[in-house]
Amino acid sequence: MNAYSTGWLKRGFPWVYPAEVVRGRARPGEVVQLRGEGGSALGTAIADAGWLAARRFRSTPGPLDEAWQNDRVRAALRLRAAVGPDTTALRLVNAESDELPGIRVDRWGPELVVSVDSASLVKLACALAGRLHEALPIITGAWLAERRDPRDAACRLPSPRRLFGEGAESVVVEELGLHFEVQPSLGKDAGLFTDMRQNRAWLSSHWRGARVLNLFAHTGAFSVSARAHGADEVVSVDLSDAYLARARRNFELNGLDSGDLLAEDAFKALDRFRRQGRRFNRVVVDPPGFSHSEAGAWQGEKEWPRLAAACLRVLEPGGWLIAASNLGTQSPKHFGAALAEGADRTERRLRLIHEGTPGPDHPSALHFPEARYLKFWVLEAD
Ligand SMILES: C[S@@+](CC[C@H](N)C(=O)[O-])C[C@H]1O[C@@H](n2cnc3c(N)ncnc32)[C@H](O)[C@@H]1O
Repeated sequence: MNAYSTGWLKRGFPWVYPAEVVRGRARPGEVVQLRGEGGSALGTAIADAGWLAARRFRSTPGPLDEAWQNDRVRAALRLRAAVGPDTTALRLVNAESDELPGIRVDRWGPELVVSVDSASLVKLACALAGRLHEALPIITGAWLAERRDPRDAACRLPSPRRLFGEGAESVVVEELGLHFEVQPSLGKDAGLFTDMRQNRAWLSSHWRGARVLNLFAHTGAFSVSARAHGADEVVSVDLSDAYLARARRNFELNGLDSGDLLAEDAFKALDRFRRQGRRFNRVVVDPPGFSHSEAGAWQGEKEWPRLAAACLRVLEPGGWLIAASNLGTQSPKHFGAALAEGADRTERRLRLIHEGTPGPDHPSALHFPEARYLKFWVLEAD
């Protein structure tokens, strides 16, 4: 590896780009030993032939054998012990941040979904799924999903294929004691964003008596949690009828009244509420990075000031704007500036009262800043 890559690898960064390879060729999927300038050993990697030349799995030379796989699985599961027993949907392996670059494993009740960022990782990922299966008797089935290019956020994911077991199409999982129906075979689209669990947990003691507007509500996880924890009124808005049908099912599973489930564009709904003089004291806004609707295209980073302003027009004085962005390209500083610009447009002021992170099942390694994508801010409006 060249000097630049050697420096980064020594600091723990696990990726080697093609331009950083000085000498040596390997087939994608081949286990290789990395060497720095002067021949110093930099550890064991799996070669690739795409946008990366290699991903490093251990910083010392050595095989990626069964003993090493069991060590990695034990370390990953040790961290997940911090997720309580009232939760059966969680991430068991979080790629680079668990020293298993390009490999994620989600648990949905008795099912695993193993996702790889490249075909070169399939063999190791399948072996790790086997190790997890041995370590967790509750697991009865697994799916494998191959992401084409994880840098392309707008790219649709191919459907996962069955690795082992014969699981049902949908399973009911628990999150913090509440029940949600998910479809593991839909991979990333299973129906519950587990990186928001810790944020739902934080909010749970703040819903009593609230009038909640949940925009981009998806399958209703925030809405169900708000209602279960004492919100008086919950209005959920999402473009997709199909997601709202799943939200209705999630309310039913928890014996809760669903409130209004509105299938429409979030901006249209906000505009109507403003004109009707309808107000809320909690507005949850967790949009996707990109989307298209009749009302136009939503381009995450650029549109936050307009979205924040529209939310503030229906938020009571003293109400909370609960804003989340999962765009890795948007820094916390830019997120704050976009929200402040939205506040300026409405002559309101916002004060940050809580900043959330994903839970211990979504660790982010400090030497891999790419893993820190989520901004979850709770702001009080004047
Ligand atoms: C990131 S998910 C929201 C996750 C959700 N807050 C949760 O924790 O379950 C984005 C959602 O926004 C919806 N969506 C996309 N564009 C929209 C729009 N213009 N108006 C309303 N909903 C939209 C999608 O259908 C999807 O369900």
